[in-house]
Amino acid sequence: MSDIDMQDAPAATRPIGIDASKAPEPVLGDAPIHPSRYYDRDFWKREWEGMWTKSWQVVALEEQLRKVGDYVTMEFGHEVILAVRGKDEKIRCFYNVCPHRGMMLVPEETGNARRLTCPYHAWSFSLEGEIKTVPDLPDFPAEAKCMEKKLVEIRSDSWGGMVWFNMNDDCEPLREFLGEVGEQMEAYPMGKMVRTLWVTVEGDFNWKLVQDNFNESYHVFHAHPQLKFVAEFSYLYSQFDLYESGHSRMLMPGGAPSRTVKGSEAEVIRQLGEHLKFWGIDPEEYRGRMHDLREALQKQKRLLGKEKGYDFSGYDDNMLTDNWHYTLFPNLSLSLKPDGNIWLRARPHPTDPEKCYFDMWFLNLFPEGQTTYYSPTLRDTVDLSVPAPHQTGKAGDHTMGPTIDQDVAIWDKQQKALHSRGYQRETLSGQERRVRYFHENLDRWLDKHAPVK
Ligand code: FES
Ligand SMILES: [Fe+2]
Repeated sequence: MSDIDMQDAPAATRPIGIDASKAPEPVLGDAPIHPSRYYDRDFWKREWEGMWTKSWQVVALEEQLRKVGDYVTMEFGHEVILAVRGKDEKIRCFYNVCPHRGMMLVPEETGNARRLTCPYHAWSFSLEGEIKTVPDLPDFPAEAKCMEKKLVEIRSDSWGGMVWFNMNDDCEPLREFLGEVGEQMEAYPMGKMVRTLWVTVEGDFNWKLVQDNFNESYHVFHAHPQLKFVAEFSYLYSQFDLYESGHSRMLMPGGAPSRTVKGSEAEVIRQLGEHLKFWGIDPEEYRGRMHDLREALQKQKRLLGKEKGYDFSGYDDNMLTDNWHYTLFPNLSLSLKPDGNIWLRARPHPTDPEKCYFDMWFLNLFPEGQTTYYSPTLRDTVDLSVPAPHQTGKAGDHTMGPTIDQDVAIWDKQQKALHSRGYQRETLSGQERRVRYFHENLDRWLDKHAPVK
């Protein structure tokens, strides 16, 4: 599926789905991506002023805020964010701070409340952020106007089954920010997907190492050697789209081994076997022609999708097997399949540019009527009836699946070595150009919102 292959594909093979045409290539510069960007405190402060406090960020799944009074909190850099569904059914986001003396208003990560009561001196607020009670009110001076206090609301919106916030009152609407990739991703029923894995680890690496990594697939052949048995990792067969919005896309064929794989059929069957069997394919029949599996899988999904509880009518054949991977500026990556989405995000650390939080969700679309399902991505059976607990810890404490674990194992070593006097600047291949594009977009944001004085 090179650019040429996809453009030349007969219309019948892609009558529907997402526009797979290649985006025009932007002209990229050649300024160094200086290693200090990953540890310099001044640069880090500019990122906070110019980008983190200006860009749209995800705080929760809509599913977590289904009922009136449901709330979710999140720490984001040194900020504290609260999302809550009000009595009017509207979801609002606030800074999660009590106006009395700055206590964190809601310390729990999730819950349900009729009122938001500060755990310190019990000032309470409605779900819409209005003050309700102040104990010993006559003891406060009248000019303090305690009963006029409100929680400070932040811009928020919902999209893709997620609740987003933006600390900049003058930001562009979320849908505009998402641009063409928002339109493309709407082909997937993300709002119906259920989170079956939720892990957050604190890592000793700058957040950009995470986004750099998901902006290139050059590392796949060596860092993820197992993937060659299930995907065509070579850049020659992938398509990279760098959109004007600053978001990017990679289309990488999947559902069969790479053309570089000769033999190794036992390994292909070990990795793909369960998924193939679910779709009525006996992998043994494909011995000697494993590369035909991608097309076979597409045909079977088309044939049996409805019977298995899926609606694949909105997808073209390529989407049924391939890896459609989106990197959303600045810090989100999504690998979308019709039945699942690996959601990856690096969040800024409150005090240290050389640390960040790395969040991974696996969102799974369960076939209609089924409560358990074998997830080919997690290589495990997932259960709809068991809500995914939030697993937190240090990098390496929890598994995020074999592939993402391999990524996580890289970044702290890279962070350390970037300080070396022996490292001057990057050397990028063509297939790593999304990395450069990401840094150029970051510079554009910083120049606009936090110019160097
Ligand atoms: S800090 Fe919240 S009531 Fe005192
Ligand atoms: Fe990777």
